[in-house]
Amino acid sequence: MKPLNVLSVTSEVFPIIKTGGLADVAGALPSALAQEGVTVVTMVPGYPAVLKSLERSEVLHQYPSFFGGAARLLSGRAGGLNLFVIDAPHLFERPGSPYLAPNGRDWPDNARRFAALGLAAADIGQGLTPGFIPDVIHAHDWQAGLVPVYLSLTGDPRPGTVITIHNIAFQGIFPADLLFELGLPTSVFTVDGVEYYGQIGFLKAGLQLADRITTVSPTYAKEIQTPEGGMGLDGLLRARSNIVSGILNGIDDKVWDPSTDAHLARPYDRNSLEARALNKRTLQERLGLKPDPDALLFGVVSRLSEQKGLDLVLAGLSRLLADGAQLALLGAGDKALEDSFQTARIVYPGQVGCFIGYDEKLAHQIQGGSDALLVPSRFEPCGLTQLCAMRYGSIPIVSRVGGLADTIIDANEMAIATSAATGFQFGPVNLGAALDAFDRAKNLWRDKDAWRRLQVNGMGADVSWHRPARQYASLYRSLRPS
Ligand code: ADP
Ligand code: GLC
Repeated sequence: MKPLNVLSVTSEVFPIIKTGGLADVAGALPSALAQEGVTVVTMVPGYPAVLKSLERSEVLHQYPSFFGGAARLLSGRAGGLNLFVIDAPHLFERPGSPYLAPNGRDWPDNARRFAALGLAAADIGQGLTPGFIPDVIHAHDWQAGLVPVYLSLTGDPRPGTVITIHNIAFQGIFPADLLFELGLPTSVFTVDGVEYYGQIGFLKAGLQLADRITTVSPTYAKEIQTPEGGMGLDGLLRARSNIVSGILNGIDDKVWDPSTDAHLARPYDRNSLEARALNKRTLQERLGLKPDPDALLFGVVSRLSEQKGLDLVLAGLSRLLADGAQLALLGAGDKALEDSFQTARIVYPGQVGCFIGYDEKLAHQIQGGSDALLVPSRFEPCGLTQLCAMRYGSIPIVSRVGGLADTIIDANEMAIATSAATGFQFGPVNLGAALDAFDRAKNLWRDKDAWRRLQVNGMGADVSWHRPARQYASLYRSLRPS
């Protein structure tokens, strides 16, 4: 295997800074790729959390003036990863979310902040750091979308470029008059470059200029090429469909391992599923639910946004909770949804428990203590929580979209009979179909042996990064044929 250097460019990375699945992917892929002979350095903005965790840091380069202030390129280690960090206090020394100001709005200079990330990565691609010359730059989402643009302005040799769409709903669209501030010449303000309906589109630009486009499941790769799923970018993606592919996400099987999980009251594996009872009771106690071992306990771990379809759970709540079933929800985001779930907790005391906020430990406890996990998304590029649920023996109940369609095998008669089923799927994404799936789950719950078979099937499935890492490695190598 020819060794290969890859610079992974991302706006978040687990365990250092995370708002969603992108961080999980960026955090787990490097060690899986190491098994495939690929050396990854991860490039992230120097947010306070990143600088605080950086060990053995070295200054590799100084920029006297970089998008409005002095900046330094640092290298170091954090969270088990090799990092390049762009330390630019005028852009990144801010509290809280990587993207949002404390008032909940996007930082007004996000274009500049993430252009800086892209330009520094492109400089590395051009040999700025002789100790690490990337063969390939892997850009994640719109925040890294300008990498191929800045590279297109330079001479050879250039690294190959891959851009991965984790969520096409976020595109990084900014006013055209920022062009010069971003250091871009007018020549790139065209349909073949950064121009997107009269504005600058970071994701659009990346998709236009990268050598390969991937997204995080095969079904989403098809969906984004349709007018319904492409959110304005379907035409571009169809035109470049020969370089578009879907590679399913995995999960970090060390972080998500029920047999060693320190967050759980009692670790377990598929041969000791009865140990889940204690985890269920602990979860019920923590969220103020009635400590009833026989109540079917539905879990949710999710951003609360339109995408995730949790309004369907609210709309169907009385039916979901009939027969004494329970709901344990962990989530944050949309204020109206947060309030509605808080209200539900008051309306259904002992049956609905929720924690509004971000809590890594509780996320593990819900996976290890709930009986079923609800993921009724309107669209879902891949989804990671259903994979965690499978590994933890909580039965996923998902809508049939994107990566949810690709990862869960519906418990229809034949799939049950052949021991293939791992969960419940419903479609289309509406209340009626969701309620049917809830009812099907409730019926199967009465048959303890059948339920246990679903758990065992899911827990036996390979949801690790092993196979996807092989696919990424071969994609990278296709850009650097020897
Ligand atoms: P998305 O990236 O669209 O939010 P994914 O399913 O790909 O969805 O990834 C979500 C990740 O974030 C998972 O690791 C999940 O456990 C975690 N997560 C989501 N909401 C919370 C929360 N409120 N507290 C802790 N972890 C959360
Ligand atoms: C996005 C998607 C999610 C995916 C994650 C990681 O946030 O919404 O479906 O799993 O990225 O790729």
